[in-house]
Amino acid sequence: MLLGQKRYSSVAVALHWAIAVLILTQIASGLYMADLPNSSSVKFDLYQLHKSFGLSILGLTLIRLGWRLAHKPPALPSFMPGWQKLIARLTHWAFYALMLITPLAGLAIVSVSPLNVTTLWFGLFEVPDFPFFNGVADRAAAAETFVEVHEYLAFSILFLFVLHVGAALKHGFVNRDGVLRSMAPRVVALIGVALIFGALGLAAFSYLQKSGVVERDSAVPIDVALPDTTPADAAAVKPAAPPVTASAPLNNDSVAPEVVVTAEPLPQAALEPEPSPTQTMVSVAPPPVWTVDYPASTLRFIGEEGGAQFEGQFSEFTAQIVFDPGNLGASSIRVGVNPASAGSGNPFRDDTMKDRAWFDVKKYEGAQFTSNTIRKTGANAYEVDGTLTIKDFSHDITLAFTLDIDGDRAHAAGGVDLVRTDYGLGMGASWLESEKVALAVRVEFEINAVRAD
Ligand code: HEM
Repeated sequence: MLLGQKRYSSVAVALHWAIAVLILTQIASGLYMADLPNSSSVKFDLYQLHKSFGLSILGLTLIRLGWRLAHKPPALPSFMPGWQKLIARLTHWAFYALMLITPLAGLAIVSVSPLNVTTLWFGLFEVPDFPFFNGVADRAAAAETFVEVHEYLAFSILFLFVLHVGAALKHGFVNRDGVLRSMAPRVVALIGVALIFGALGLAAFSYLQKSGVVERDSAVPIDVALPDTTPADAAAVKPAAPPVTASAPLNNDSVAPEVVVTAEPLPQAALEPEPSPTQTMVSVAPPPVWTVDYPASTLRFIGEEGGAQFEGQFSEFTAQIVFDPGNLGASSIRVGVNPASAGSGNPFRDDTMKDRAWFDVKKYEGAQFTSNTIRKTGANAYEVDGTLTIKDFSHDITLAFTLDIDGDRAHAAGGVDLVRTDYGLGMGASWLESEKVALAVRVEFEINAVRAD
């Protein structure tokens, strides 16, 4: 019997059930993901989804709290003893407090964590970190503390949940006082719940698509737009294009061979020295342009993490090669690399590489190498001095390579040893410990190219 008990409004009912389901899922997913090994291919994405759903719970709780303050809830049955009413009220307000503090503690973990992973709500927009942790000396220890706090808070929600469900069932099946029915969902509230889950489901799906967990269009064409120009007509190209325009979405499987490389043609005019009047008179032929066969070429990196070696590839790069072994003075090499295309077979590591502490791909477009001088060091061995620029760091490096030319086909292979911190890579406090990720990184390339006449 209902004993004059009014119902909660449909908005309150919809928010109550949607948040209840989200919180239970959140606790289960949180416990599951935290136990996964770092090598797990789903760990990174589960963390991103956990953060996004957790922030959604925070947003929905704020709306619910606003609604609660503006709308008086139905009164508790008048025959309920005072102490029971007090416990009921305390439980409800403790719920509100935990539903606000638990996600905030989660945000505190990621704000203070030395991993520096940006929080993007379902990959759609950035949620800023708390600004007040900048001065924290031992960020790893602080993050650990917040993880524990976050976990205790989540278990406190679970504890209240058990109390709450027990009380609700007693109202519904022992007292039969209508309290349980006052929160029972009817059609309008069910539509509200469906809308909330529909919106969050769409956002989660769009995240999974972007991150490559859900395949987009698998038939991605190979589209290598490289300069198909002779040196003469290339001179008409305006020198303005950036070295790399990565069009592929954020994809954890970027080692796969089907990769879009839509590099804007680099201005050949900029690569070739202006012919001097004397050169024109003695008609020294300019070095030929070599068109890279990208599917048959690789740009690899080899590093060490936790004492174990790992390897990866940049699947998107362009190389503009103007080269004549007999005219090294006029030869030049220019390479553009899209660091967001790095794939090492470990999605957690690959996504971390895109972050601020590493390549910061949201701020910096790409890495570039531009040759200064090329010299012969053996029968088919060469060295090229040039400048490598990654983010705001430029350093002169020397690449050693071998070159075999067979008719109009060329094969070059070589590499260079770099120190990652010279280029501001892995600058968060914990990444600087070289035993975690070694400072030395080897970059190796193998290029197959065809002479363009
Ligand atoms: C009501 C909302 C939330 C609930 C109920 C919840 C619950 C949980 C639970 C149960 C765990 C597992 C704890 C462990 O065993 O270590 C966890 C982990 C975690 N949560 Fe939440 N969470 C919520 C919101 C958030 C939010 C909003 C964020 C960040 C924006 C977040 C970030 C994290 C992180 C980073 C971990 C992993 C900690 C680790 O590395 O062990 N959580 N969460």
